[in-house]
Amino acid sequence: MLWKGRFKKELDKKANAFNASIGVDKALAEQDITGSLAHAAMLAQTDIISQEDCKAITDGLQQILAELQAHTLTVDESCEDIHTFVESLLTERIGDAGKRLHTARSRNDQVATDFRLYLKEEAAHTTELLKDLCETLCDLASEHTETIMPGYTHLQRAQPIVFGHHLMAYTFMFLRDIDRIKDAAKRMNVLPLGAGALAGTTFPIDRNLTAQLLGFDKPCENSLDAVSDRDFVLELSFCLSVVMTHISRLCEEIILWNSWEFKFVELDDSYTTGSSIMPQKKNPDVAETARGKAGRVAGDLISLTLLMKGLPLAYAKDTQEDKEPVFDAIDTVKDTLRAFVEMMPGVVPNREEMKKAAQAGYPTATDLADYLTKKGLPFREAHDVVGSVVRLASNLECDLAELTLEQLKDFCPMIEEDVYEKALKLESSIAARDHLGGTAPAQVKKQVARWHGIFAERHAAPAQKRLADLLK
Ligand code: ARG
Repeated sequence: MLWKGRFKKELDKKANAFNASIGVDKALAEQDITGSLAHAAMLAQTDIISQEDCKAITDGLQQILAELQAHTLTVDESCEDIHTFVESLLTERIGDAGKRLHTARSRNDQVATDFRLYLKEEAAHTTELLKDLCETLCDLASEHTETIMPGYTHLQRAQPIVFGHHLMAYTFMFLRDIDRIKDAAKRMNVLPLGAGALAGTTFPIDRNLTAQLLGFDKPCENSLDAVSDRDFVLELSFCLSVVMTHISRLCEEIILWNSWEFKFVELDDSYTTGSSIMPQKKNPDVAETARGKAGRVAGDLISLTLLMKGLPLAYAKDTQEDKEPVFDAIDTVKDTLRAFVEMMPGVVPNREEMKKAAQAGYPTATDLADYLTKKGLPFREAHDVVGSVVRLASNLECDLAELTLEQLKDFCPMIEEDVYEKALKLESSIAARDHLGGTAPAQVKKQVARWHGIFAERHAAPAQKRLADLLK
C-alpha cells in the first residue's frame, strides 16, 4: 500500500480485490516506467531530488523495464495498480531513493500520463493497420477497374458501376478514419504530469521539460482538467467505433454478395466455415463476426460516455473504469483489421453474375434520359418519357436495349439509332461518367494509381520513422 499512514486497520481483502485495477492497468507498465524516468530526470534537473537519487531511480526503473520485457519479472497482481507495483518494487530494490520518486506527483496525474502515452502508441498502430487495409483494397480495386456490377440505392439496382469504384469507396472511408485518429492523437498529445492530485504542486517543477522528454507537445494548462479529462479516451473510442461501422458495412455487402441470391463473389475457403449439420454450407463467418464486433466497439464507446457523464471535478475512482472499454475496442479493431487484410484478397468477384445483374432492372434508364436531355429535351420531360419507356419494357418483360427503334421513337422522335451504343450499353454508361469521382474506368484507374503510390512510399520509409511520422 502506498497510503497506509492514516489507517488503523488494513483494507479488507475482498474490498482490496474489488478496488484493484492491476489486472487491467498492468498493460501500462512500460508507459508507467517511461513516465517515471522523465519525472525523475525533471526532479533532478530542478534540484528537487539529488543526482545520486535520480541515478539510482533511473537504473532501478530501467532494470525493472528490462526484466518485464524479457519476461523474467511478472507483475504482482496483489498490488492495487501498476503504479503501486512499480514504485514498491523500485523501493524494495533501491531503498530511500525509490521513496523520493513520487515527490511532486500524484497517481492522478501519473495515470493520466501513462494512459495518454499508451493510447498515442495504439493510435499509431491502428492507423498503420488501416493503411494496410487501404492498400489491400487498392490492390483488389486495381484488378477490377472494368468489372461491371450494379450500383444500388435503396438496395434496388440503380446505375451500373465498376467493382473497383465500389471498393475505393471503402478505401476513402478508411482514409478518413486514419485522419480522424491522427487528429484525436494530436489533442491527446498534452502532458498531465505536474497537475499533482488536482491543484498543482508546491515544488518548483519544470513541466515543459517533462513534456519534452516524453514527446508531448506541451503540458495541460489546467491542473483540474489535466487529471479529470478523459476526452482523449472518448475521442479515440469514437474513432474506433466509426472504423468498425465502416468495416461492418463492408461485411454486410460481402455477406450479401456471397449469398445464393446475389452470387457476386466467391470467398476463399480459408475465410469461411461449414455447418455441423448441413454439409453444403459455406458461411461467411469472418465477415459476420466482424459485423457483430462493430456492436461491441460501439458499446465500449457508450460505456465510456456513461462513465464520464456524471463525474464532478476532479479525479474520482470511477475513472479507473476507463481502461477496459478502450483496450477492448483497440484489441477488437486491430484483430478485425488484421483479419480483413488477410481476407480481402480472397474475395473473388464473379464477373458474369455481376454483369448479368447490372443488365437487368433498367440501370441505363438515367443514361437514356441524359441522352434526350443532351438533344435538347428538358431533363424533367426526358425523365417522364423514359419512365414510360421503362413501363413498356417492364410490361414486355424485356431490357431497354431489346426495344426496337420504332418502339422507342413512339415515345420520343428524338431517339435515333445511336441510342443503343451511346446510352443503353453498360460499357458506354460507365465510360461516360468520366469526371473526378465518377465510375468511368479511366477515373477509377487514376484514383487507384494515386493512392497506390502513396501507400507504396510508406514501404520505403523505415518502420521507426513511419511511427514517428504518424505521431506528428
Ligand atoms: N488505478 C487508478 C486509476 O486507474 C490510479 C489513480 C488512483 N488515484 C487515487 N487517488 N485513488 O484511476
